[in-house]
Formats: sequence, C-alpha cells, structure tokens
Amino acid sequence: MRGKFITIEGTEGVGKTTNIQFIQNWLESKQLAYLCTREPGGTPLAEQIRELLLAPREELVCDTAELLLMFAGRAQHLNQVIEPALTEGAWVLCDRFTDATYAYQGAGRGMGTSLIAELELIVQGSLRPDLTLILDIPVELGLKRASERSDPDRFEQEKTEFFDLVRNGYLDIARKHPDRCVVIDASQPLELVQRELTIALEAFWYSSEESG
Ligand code: TMP
Repeated sequence: MRGKFITIEGTEGVGKTTNIQFIQNWLESKQLAYLCTREPGGTPLAEQIRELLLAPREELVCDTAELLLMFAGRAQHLNQVIEPALTEGAWVLCDRFTDATYAYQGAGRGMGTSLIAELELIVQGSLRPDLTLILDIPVELGLKRASERSDPDRFEQEKTEFFDLVRNGYLDIARKHPDRCVVIDASQPLELVQRELTIALEAFWYSSEESG
C-alpha cells in the first residue's frame, strides 16, 4: 500500500525542528516505515540548490529565479526520494513543501498563485500532501526565537512585513484546504502544541486505516 505524505509548515521560529522529532517518535510508536526529509533540499543536488537559495548575497535574487530554483529542487527531490518512498509504502515526513512556495513566494513575494499552480502541476502532477501541519505563531515571537538560533539566512533577513504576508498566506491555505491542513497554535507551551499534534496525527491515522 502506498505510504502517506505528511508535511510540516510555518514561518520562522515556530519550532519545526523539535516538533519534527516528536512526529518521528509518533511514527515509530505506530511502527510505520517512514522517511524524514526537507525542502528545499533532500537530495545532494537539491541540498546544493538550498545553499544557493539561503545564502545571503549582495545580488538581488529575482522572484522568478527564486521560484524556479524551489521547483527545480522539488522536482529532483520528488523523483529521487519522495515518490520512490511512497511507492514502496513508506510514510514521508517533509519539513516544508509546496505550501511554503505559496506562502513565501506567492504571498510573501507577491507572486500570486497562478504561476505556482502551473509549476505545481508540471512538477508534481496530482501529488499533494495527505496531511499538512501548520505551526502558527505571531511573527514577532517567531523572529525573536529564530534570531537566538544562528546568523540569519537570506529569508530570515526579510522584514516583519514579509513574514506577516507569509503567515497570512499559510492561514489562507489552511482555509482553502481544510481537508488536509491542521493549524496548531505554536505559541502555546510545547506540551500543549504536542498534544494537538498527537490529536491531529491520531485522527489522520485512524481515517487512513479505515480508508485503506
Ligand atoms: P528552513 O528550512 O530553515 O525553514 O529554511 C528554508 C527557507 O526556505 C525558509 O525561510 C522558507 C524558504 N522556502 C521558500 O521560500 N519557499 C519554499 O518553497 C520552501 C520549501 C522554503
């Protein structure tokens, strides 16, 4: 049976890393074969594209170049890693996917949705995540947390207004796709965030057991 495709999303400093570890523990508790990966990245080539995308640089990166690099990495990642794993029956947990493109390039950069939707169709065909967990946090709080972590990458150097647009972009996606998206308030204490994650994962797991 084909595996399930779970993505985790959110603006900077929402706590993806800690919660991804938590989700991996949950997958293990269910004895599910799974693979944990990330975007941009996930293959040697796509990781090189990630470095190109995240490196702060003097040169202004034009929006179309940024968008195409995101999808170039995604095409490689899907072809080499995600599709083969799902076909073999493994679950795939991916740190960001195309919803990040709608949120960051579509909403944040103001590119809109139509070009992204065209590229999504070319690169992914009908493949979409089965479950998307969106960690939501007030932008200022997230940026404060992220700034305590490391030197800012090219995205983290953006202004608060950019991340307000990105956050709204994610909330719009959740409204448009309530069937697969669950928004979790990541400003709560970690224990409560993880309780909500467990509820979402268990509900998804039971429904996939029933339908499968
Ligand atoms: P992160 O993995 O540390 O969150 O960094 C990845 C950065 O790339 C993050 O700032 C969001 C950005 N990004 C996009 O702008 N578009 C995309 O499609 C993806 C996958 C990530």
